[in-house]
Amino acid sequence: MAIFGNFDDASREFVISRPDTPLPWLNYLGQDEYFGMCTQTAGGYSFWRDAKLRRITRYRYNNNPMDNDGRFLYVRSGKTVWNPGWKPTRTKLDAFECRHGLGYTRITGRKDGIEVEQLMFVPPNENLEIWKVTVRNRTRKARKLTVFSFVEFCSFEALNDMTNYQRTYSIGEVEVEGSAIYHKTEYRERRNHYALFGCTRKIDGYDTSRDAFVGVHNGLHDPKAVLAGRCTNSHAHGWNPVGAHQINLSLKPGEEETFAFVLAYVEQGELPKFDRPFVMNKSRGRETLARFSDLKAVDSAFASVRRRWEELLSTYQAPKVPNEHLRRMVNTWNQAQVMATFNLSRSTSGYETGIGRGMGFRDSNQDILGFVHMLPDRARQRILDIGATQLSDGTCYHQYQPLTKKGNAEAGSGFNDDPLWLILSTCAYIRETGDATILAEPIGFADKPGSRDTLLDHLEISIAYTMRNRGPHRLPLIGRADWNDCLNLNCFSEQPNESFQTTANKTKGDVAESVMIAGLFLYASRDLAALYRFLEREADATRIDKGYAEMLSIVEDQAWDGAWYTRAFDAFGKPVGSKTCEEGKIFIESQAWCVLGGAGQGNGRARKALEAVEKYLYKPDLGCALQYPPYSTYHLELGEVTSYPPGYKENAGVFSHNNTWIHIGWTLFGDGDRALAYYLSICPSAKKDHSVYRSEPYVYAQMTASQFSPTPGEGKNSWLTGTAAWSFVVASQHILGIRPDFDGLRVDPCVPRKWKGFTVVRKFRGVTYTIEVSNPKGVSKGVRSLVVDGLRVAGNLIIPPSDGRTAVSVKATLGA
Ligand code: GLC
Ligand code: GLC
Repeated sequence: MAIFGNFDDASREFVISRPDTPLPWLNYLGQDEYFGMCTQTAGGYSFWRDAKLRRITRYRYNNNPMDNDGRFLYVRSGKTVWNPGWKPTRTKLDAFECRHGLGYTRITGRKDGIEVEQLMFVPPNENLEIWKVTVRNRTRKARKLTVFSFVEFCSFEALNDMTNYQRTYSIGEVEVEGSAIYHKTEYRERRNHYALFGCTRKIDGYDTSRDAFVGVHNGLHDPKAVLAGRCTNSHAHGWNPVGAHQINLSLKPGEEETFAFVLAYVEQGELPKFDRPFVMNKSRGRETLARFSDLKAVDSAFASVRRRWEELLSTYQAPKVPNEHLRRMVNTWNQAQVMATFNLSRSTSGYETGIGRGMGFRDSNQDILGFVHMLPDRARQRILDIGATQLSDGTCYHQYQPLTKKGNAEAGSGFNDDPLWLILSTCAYIRETGDATILAEPIGFADKPGSRDTLLDHLEISIAYTMRNRGPHRLPLIGRADWNDCLNLNCFSEQPNESFQTTANKTKGDVAESVMIAGLFLYASRDLAALYRFLEREADATRIDKGYAEMLSIVEDQAWDGAWYTRAFDAFGKPVGSKTCEEGKIFIESQAWCVLGGAGQGNGRARKALEAVEKYLYKPDLGCALQYPPYSTYHLELGEVTSYPPGYKENAGVFSHNNTWIHIGWTLFGDGDRALAYYLSICPSAKKDHSVYRSEPYVYAQMTASQFSPTPGEGKNSWLTGTAAWSFVVASQHILGIRPDFDGLRVDPCVPRKWKGFTVVRKFRGVTYTIEVSNPKGVSKGVRSLVVDGLRVAGNLIIPPSDGRTAVSVKATLGA
């Protein structure tokens, strides 16, 4: 069983002990507007706000070797050239360690007695990253060596940068002043920003031309200048601007020296652009470097990254949870992943190239479910931004661009689950904060400029849209697809170059129906009715209840297949995900959403549906496959779901995101043993053999190849997945069971029977609750007694104190 690293829970770090991990293991730097990705070998790139339009450094996706561009330091000592992060030279190191922490990565490499530590982070509220570098002479001899820094600039617009060389080879421009390398491509024309790469220490040379530093026929593994031992002070004119510094060091035995590199994105703002022709006004750049010229400022910037994360995480901490995997995920890594998904949606990762998708309507709404407790104000703004991209008939732009906040016409609309997710995010926000004023915000509709329809109008329109757009079984029409992007029931694509997502060759798309959307509708309308009751609008609540009851009876009448819920009906009205199908007999999503929406209660179906999932889809070390059996051939009438080879992605891969809904399902049945076992089945921290799983052990992957594939257990597409938010909801609200509700904080754990107890510290609406849960009778669920600041209260709801207390202690005892 191969292990490539371990958790250091006390420091909230994952420690990678060898550089040749089975895949690049990524971390994110940055939390506001400047972001970077950084792997264990310092691979990755940086951008400001939008990875397509403001990319600062260059990255070649799917390169070979994989992940070969980054924030590199080269060390030349004698004839040996090496990198502390191993790549790109891949010179064998005597010691290597990479610590991925929250918002930073620290890489330490040692070779022949010289140790180089490179700490990379983005200070809060700054548009820059810092590499703090310490070089130590661990030997008893005086040593002379040279350190080179290296980044390759991107000409900001990433797609053009990697496709349009007839232009980009002629536009590159730079300036150099002291240690500061200014990358100012396109600055003379319409750009009012530039990149800056400087060093806090005096340098002994620099290069800005890639041909000079690397060479045309050399590679990053053997850059010419490093082999020669010195930079050439080159100036790039077109071709490929880079930033490289040369630093000569003489270290006495045991001596060390620390300095820092600063890579910044600078907006010129209102300042004059030029001092004189061709010479840019660098005042802002100079100020930026001056601020970090003192290493104390660097250290305090790093301390503020750490403080900021402690603060963010302090809203939900469960230090004494008996299971170590759930404990570290809920306390640290799951929340870090949620932050990444909130900030970046599905745009920029090891798999998402930053030039494709913007923010997804359904994705971002779901991301909020796991994020809202950390920064409710940012969640509020996001909900309003997303809501504003809905159209007045209820449909939604499927994606929007974060830079413009406008719906993306290319991705279009017509994914009929989209509108309903807005209800879930809005209700989650109000449950967290109690702030119902968000409902009255006049965000208008994307197709009615200047309109002042409120967020609440949007929620109503989402309900009305689903009710109005139904098919022959009176179930919701699916449109282009529902949550399962690949269930393209109106696509009928015979041309390989058509997009499954946006093609609709079946023009009369008013037949194919989705049971998943019906279940989601049940869930969303129950949420909305509860919200109306909180607002004391009983008549509205009752009206919504009626729609709920109608949809529920349709689901029970039309969608029960005998032992589970049918998944959908295709464009001919034929069932999908039914025992009558040859392949794809049972799908996970309709079981999950019908159960979560409250179907199958009182008639035994909900439990049967979950048991069918267990029987056909679940494997303890893998999780649940999306459907069974996988499709072995392409079906014109089903679309992309049948395009993937069996066992991958939506064709019966383990698609982690939908597993989480089943986990909640088991907690609804009070089965804490199953809930935890299922939770652990997809939990990255619990993956035993890293060389099989391959993906990062500290964050969820979108997909793990399932038992139906030739490579079961292999994780893919890590980091940016809705699994992050939903897993946090599962662990924090349903297993540990500390769940915000409109009127207060609910205590409703569902844990393995052998758990004796645990503690959760939860900040909620300005009060810190320390909640000690004990389980003397060895049950899974059911609060027998709840004592709040010494007073016994009935039920399991903690009502926020009205007397100004800011710390409340709660003792909850489980039992029959
Ligand atoms: C991807 C998409 C998400 C979709 C899921 C299932 O993760 O980002 O929107 O629901 O795939 O197809
Ligand atoms: C493909 C993927 C799906 C993803 C979609 C995004 O359909 O299978 O997971 O959501 O592309 O466009």
